[in-house]
Amino acid sequence: MGGKRIGVLISGRGSNLAALIDACATRDFPADIVLVISNRPDAGGLQIAQSTGIQTRTVDHTEYADREAFDAEIDRVLREHDVELVCLAGFMRLLAPGFVEAWRDRLINIHPSLLPAYPGVNIHERVIDDGVRISGCTVHYVRTAMDSGPIVAQAAVPVLSGDTAETLAARVLAAEHEIYPQALRMVADGTARLSGERVVFSARESEAAPLFSPPLS
Ligand code: GRF
Repeated sequence: MGGKRIGVLISGRGSNLAALIDACATRDFPADIVLVISNRPDAGGLQIAQSTGIQTRTVDHTEYADREAFDAEIDRVLREHDVELVCLAGFMRLLAPGFVEAWRDRLINIHPSLLPAYPGVNIHERVIDDGVRISGCTVHYVRTAMDSGPIVAQAAVPVLSGDTAETLAARVLAAEHEIYPQALRMVADGTARLSGERVVFSARESEAAPLFSPPLS
C-alpha cells in the first residue's frame, strides 16, 4: 500500500482489471486499486474486485437522464474515494468532454489495436478483413476524441491466415494483460510522463528485434 490511488472503470468480464489487481498485489508496485466502478450491474469484473476486497460501485447508465448526469456521478464517486488516476478497462461508455477534461492527464485506457489505426469497435473483424499482418494493443491517455490521446505503450502481435475475430482477440488480449500493468507502473511511478501531447520515458526504452509477420524464412 502507499502507491497512487487508482479507480478502475469497467463494463464487463474484467480480465484486464484482474491483471491490474495482480500487478498491484506485487511488491513495491507504485499503485493501489481503491475502487472499481461498473456501469453494468452484471459485470463479471465486480465479483473479481469484491473477491479481493476492493470496494465496488455500480453506476448504471440506464438510471441517468443523460451522459452528463451519469459522468457527474462517476466523478463524484471517484472523488469520494480520493482517486488520483483512473484506468478504463473495457469500459464501454463514451465519457463526455467535461469528464475527460476534468480528469485530463489522470485518465488512461487500453484499446485492442495499434492506435491510431482502428479506433472504435469491431476492431479484429476489420483488421482481418483488411488483410493486416500485425495488430496489437495500446495504452493511452484519454482525450475527447474517441480512442485518441498520447500513447503510453503498445504491444504488437501477428495476425495469422486462419485467424477469426475470436482467435485474434484472444492473442491481443493476452498482450493487453501484460502491457496494461507495465504501462500503469510507468505512469504511476513517473517513468512515463507527458511532454506536451507525447509521452516520454526516463528509463526502460530499448531497441527490440522487429516482429515479422509472417516470420522471415
Ligand atoms: C479489452 O479487449 C479491452 O481492450 C477493450 O475491451 C476488452 C475488455 O476486456 N476495451 P476485459 O473486460 O478487460 O476482459
